[in-house]
Amino acid sequence: MSKPELIAFIRDEIQEHGPIPFVRFMESALYHPTLGYYTSPGEKIGFRGDYYTSSSVHPIFGELLAKQLLQMLLALGEGESGYTLVEMGAGKGTLCFDILSYLKSTSPDVFNRLRYIIIEKSPTLRTRQRQRLEPFFLDRVQWEEAVPDRLIGVLFSNELLDAMPVHRLRVDRKTVQEIYVDWKDDRFVETLGPPSTPRLLDDLKKIDVQFDRPTEIEINLQAIDWMHRIGQSLARGYVVTIDYGYPAEMLYTPRRPKGTFLCYYRHQTNENPYDHIGEQDMTAHIDFTALARAGEEVGLSVIGFTDQTHFLMGLGIAQRMEPYGMEMDRSDEAKKQFLAMKQLMAPDRMGRIFKILIQGKNIPPELKLDGLQFKPFFKLLTLIFFFFMM
Ligand SMILES: C[S@@+](CC[C@H](N)C(=O)[O-])C[C@H]1O[C@@H](n2cnc3c(N)ncnc32)[C@H](O)[C@@H]1O
Repeated sequence: MSKPELIAFIRDEIQEHGPIPFVRFMESALYHPTLGYYTSPGEKIGFRGDYYTSSSVHPIFGELLAKQLLQMLLALGEGESGYTLVEMGAGKGTLCFDILSYLKSTSPDVFNRLRYIIIEKSPTLRTRQRQRLEPFFLDRVQWEEAVPDRLIGVLFSNELLDAMPVHRLRVDRKTVQEIYVDWKDDRFVETLGPPSTPRLLDDLKKIDVQFDRPTEIEINLQAIDWMHRIGQSLARGYVVTIDYGYPAEMLYTPRRPKGTFLCYYRHQTNENPYDHIGEQDMTAHIDFTALARAGEEVGLSVIGFTDQTHFLMGLGIAQRMEPYGMEMDRSDEAKKQFLAMKQLMAPDRMGRIFKILIQGKNIPPELKLDGLQFKPFFKLLTLIFFFFMM
């Protein structure tokens, strides 16, 4: 079931202005101020929601990420406001909870001088985060509208960018058309039209891929704008971006003629954004080459790019898994924990598709990050990933 008021809102906009670019439809479906998927009440993430994120699978994810963030914070040293972490798109607040729990128990000195800033677009989720976090970490966490200027610290996100609305294009060797949404015979229909902004054509030129056959692709301009904004705000520090996706050469291939756009509804995927409007998530994979390029434009250098398997291995997940296992003599609880951790790191589960991009600005050059001790590369990216994906 779609939300009738949300259908009416989008339909009225189309009837007033004509067909709208798909990106605008997706913006309303996910983030209409009160009716959008992310802005209205209800479970989105986890068993009772529509999809799992790593932080909802097992707290070890937050713990190991915290270990990496701690190494970065210590290398950067304290700024005027102590140590600063900025999490963007914090969902239910689970990742924040796990990170702060780890820092409190392992590094009270850092914890006591830490400010943890959350930047969250959805007011409903902000309330949810406060309910989860304030009883435990009232004086550590603050919510802000934007990244503070001249920030010294670490800015990170998990599955923020895949939740941003995308432009959808249909391209072939000669033409580039954008997918628009129209209203006909009492329902939404897709039509094709010219690109709604010249930025899409500029972006396509940068992708530098030959589309010999008609191919559908998504372009996430909001992610590029986001990278530009945070790069400009960061004076010194790291940006850690965790999400599913590929470098451009692997994302835009004839093997994906329909792109990567997907909807999630109660743990099932579908390709129909016109079902369950306001009740289902919509996402597309991330073009990490475009992100890295956008970062370079604002002074963020790529420190490393790896996948979740290797990132978590570098941070010691294998050792943490040792007490658990599937052997006959293990308890049911130990088996359950083991399977959840395996889900995070196994290449055929979340380990390979999820990537970690780490960028830095004015950072200590000698620091070797634990999470990048396996495959800390970017330039060799195509070659190595191609090898692993076969
Ligand atoms: C897929 S959820 C991921 C939640 C969480 N990071 C996790 O690991 O479970 C995406 C989150 O990003 C938020 N979000 C989307 N766009 C945003 C933006 N431009 N700024 C801040 N938060 C945003 C959503 O409201 C939601 O909380």
